[in-house]
Amino acid sequence: MKKNELKELINEMTLEEKIGQLVQVTPDFFDQEGEITGPAAEWRLSEEKLFQIGSVLGTHTAEQVYMIQKTYLEKSRLSIPLLFMADVIHGYETIFPIPLALASSFSAELTEEVARLSALEATRAGVHVTFSPMADHVMDSRWGRVLESNGEDPTLSAELTKGYVRGYQGTDLAQDTERLAACVKHFVGYGAVQGGRDYNHVDLSPIELHQNYLPAFQAALDEGVKLVMTSFNPINGQLMSLNRSLIKETLRQEMGFDGVVISDWNALEELLAHRVVRDKYQAAAEAFEAGTDIDMMSDCYINHLADFSGLDSQALDEAVYRLLTLKNELGLFENPFRGITANAASIEHSLRKATKEAAMKSFVLLKNEDSILPVSQKQRLFLLGPKADSKDILGAWSWIGKTANAISLAEGLSHRVPDLTIGKAASWAELSAEEYLSLCEEARNSEVVVLALGESSEETGEAASKAILSLPESQIELVKRISAVNPNLVVVLFNGRPLELTAIEPYVKGILEAWFPGSEGGHAIAETLTGYYDPQGKLPMSFPRAVGQLPFSYQAYSTGRPLTEKNQTEKYVSKYMDVGNDPLYPFGYGLSYSNVCIEAISQSAEVLTREKPLTIQASVKNPSTREGVATVQLYIEDMVTELVRPVRELKSWQKLNVTGETTERCTFTLTADDLAYVHRDLKRYPDFGQFRFFIGLDSRTTLAGQFEFCES
Ligand code: NOJ
Repeated sequence: MKKNELKELINEMTLEEKIGQLVQVTPDFFDQEGEITGPAAEWRLSEEKLFQIGSVLGTHTAEQVYMIQKTYLEKSRLSIPLLFMADVIHGYETIFPIPLALASSFSAELTEEVARLSALEATRAGVHVTFSPMADHVMDSRWGRVLESNGEDPTLSAELTKGYVRGYQGTDLAQDTERLAACVKHFVGYGAVQGGRDYNHVDLSPIELHQNYLPAFQAALDEGVKLVMTSFNPINGQLMSLNRSLIKETLRQEMGFDGVVISDWNALEELLAHRVVRDKYQAAAEAFEAGTDIDMMSDCYINHLADFSGLDSQALDEAVYRLLTLKNELGLFENPFRGITANAASIEHSLRKATKEAAMKSFVLLKNEDSILPVSQKQRLFLLGPKADSKDILGAWSWIGKTANAISLAEGLSHRVPDLTIGKAASWAELSAEEYLSLCEEARNSEVVVLALGESSEETGEAASKAILSLPESQIELVKRISAVNPNLVVVLFNGRPLELTAIEPYVKGILEAWFPGSEGGHAIAETLTGYYDPQGKLPMSFPRAVGQLPFSYQAYSTGRPLTEKNQTEKYVSKYMDVGNDPLYPFGYGLSYSNVCIEAISQSAEVLTREKPLTIQASVKNPSTREGVATVQLYIEDMVTELVRPVRELKSWQKLNVTGETTERCTFTLTADDLAYVHRDLKRYPDFGQFRFFIGLDSRTTLAGQFEFCES
């Protein structure tokens, strides 16, 4: 449809039809036959109103989408096709590793590919829009939703977010019906909920917001993301669904967004529980005035917006126009059954290889004492622990994925290791004395024991905040007892957040962080443990020593009394009395079997100007005989600043393949823009003066150089 045709269509619409377009409901509103029952009845929707609704979220199959769309087109006066949205977060039917795991790859090519393949599958099921990527800045792993994030670094998060948007949307949504429109969320500040408790209060300074929370959203906008979802939380007392200044001024004017703004689930009705509106009428009026286009799953708009006497008809037309434009960009007016073909076969099988590869790129080797890993396929292995034969490895956003089709670690390992014994996967307390003795016997007789530990997917994601981040007592006990009979102990972790591993770390020789690895998890881990694949993941979020260190980021701010190597025992320095300031495993960290290391660094000049960027080189050595991947990271420190700033910030990274016994070089170019930060005036620009840079394989690196940023 042409622009003017869309406008003509809007001219034909009644007030109710316009408002209906701005309402989103679940499929059960339409699934019922005949009489209006269920949720539609609770909202007292007439059939006329029901068939004015603009979009649906959370369908399961192509058949369901087809039926709903067909009935809708028959019954609605103007036959404007419905838009179908869903949470396609890390795959649809084939489940990829969780986003935090994918972030460990430090690879926007990978997030792009995963998004492309997720879209390929979801569009065949009739989905048009995904509620992904999540671009929330996070520093607190008590918050269960860190699982959906790209971790604690805003620059890394921005790059990975771009990858997702590119992968979902491609370059032409109308022509390429195997792509989804993307909805970046949750705008904004949701990751900063106090105490890491979901749906809690958020208080953020404007500087912090602009420096760390907005960049990943801006990155999504720069890639042309079609929708933005507002978050549940308030910012400085102002609920996001009512936040006119952040939606209209910051998002639309400053950041340049002209797509659709959608609320989160029932967020408008929840304004009543927040006690910031008297009734749904006020909720609808204020949310619309603030710039919320779509009301997701509340009846505020559909039942109350028309009564708002101050409703700006031009603003209403603009909101409807944005929505119809999206439908048009997806080609729905020409093809309302976009993506759906008769008798389409599942493509799950053909995506399995890609999900296995994505998983292998996302594993992080946290510890490898005495090079216990990789194990040889000829070794006698004993596998046990609550996750050993568990298929609960898909992660919290795998609602279409079938757990039964997931490959457990026991299944994966038994394909590769002939001499494998699998122990009872009970928790320690449940074992009888006899079972306990036989487990110890098995452990003693094996060359290496692999313990599969971690969280259940239920313990992660939305509404899954935790105040205790260590493994459960029963798992810690298992580690201690098994290590007493066989010190050759390797732990494989399945979890959705950085955990506190302090209690088990001293008892084990190897730790492989497998996250929730997705459908092919067991195969991917088995290939990694047996050395077919070199682990290359790097932590996108620090692992704390103790939960009391949270919120945490390697980007610690300078303090007036910094803790140094020399003043560890002094009292009046910024430190904890009972635990170090540093994390157990830092951001950017991850070992490899090839032991790649940085041999030397060099820089092109001592001075950087706007016209003359600085070139920095690193030579990366692979001392082993196998091929390895190095993720070389470049950090900077601005030595004198207008505002208090972090001691270091990641600016760039490169993944380098280095064949065995060779040295490779990588070159970074640092520009004036890389030195910029948000100042008092909320503008981003660099300061002239001295800088240090650090190059290394994690955020603790001490390999450093210095330069000055000058005018000329
Ligand atoms: C609530 C979640 O906060 C959001 O991320 C999700 O997309 C919506 N529900 C829709 O399911």
